[in-house]
Amino acid sequence: MKKIAVFASGNGSNFQVIAEEFPVEFVFSDHRDAYVIERADKLGVLSYAFELKEFESKADYEAALVELLEEHQIDLVCLAGYMKIVGPTLLAAYEGRIINIHPAYLPEFPGAHGIEDAWNAGVTESGVTIHWVDSGVDTGKVIKQVRVPRLADDTIESFEARIHEAEYKLYPEVLDSLGVERR
Ligand code: GRF
Repeated sequence: MKKIAVFASGNGSNFQVIAEEFPVEFVFSDHRDAYVIERADKLGVLSYAFELKEFESKADYEAALVELLEEHQIDLVCLAGYMKIVGPTLLAAYEGRIINIHPAYLPEFPGAHGIEDAWNAGVTESGVTIHWVDSGVDTGKVIKQVRVPRLADDTIESFEARIHEAEYKLYPEVLDSLGVERR
């Protein structure tokens, strides 16, 4: 049985979808007041939160994360709106076992604003990508991606909502394909 942990920095809607369909060992947030922690409480999922600024260095912060992951014998780390670049300490311990969801069709529109960047570029379609995490920003090997159209009468809000709907379908599909057992 593969044990998964989810990392999220804010809202946590992807975490919620994952946790409703799969047993999540714990969720970690790098912001103590993130809404994802409330979601975890409501779902009865164990949560941890601590912040980079509470540590002397990013290496120390990530060493604390590695300790948590090892303590819980996590097989797969699912980044879902985790807004930090994974650094060498976490990668050294978990490379090949960390996946990320990105709200664009990589390699198009990497970075923190994939939806807005695609919208501002005037694309007729964007997408969603789940990929392995390496040391680059949204550069790791693609596991699965889907196209999402931008419709003629879209606003950025309706476009964004369609991207998120695609995310909520794609993450469970990828977890199934990686052999994570459902609840
Ligand atoms: C998602 O669009 C995800 O692709 C991106 O950040 C957003 C997180 O949303 N990396 P949420 O916290 O899951 O609601």
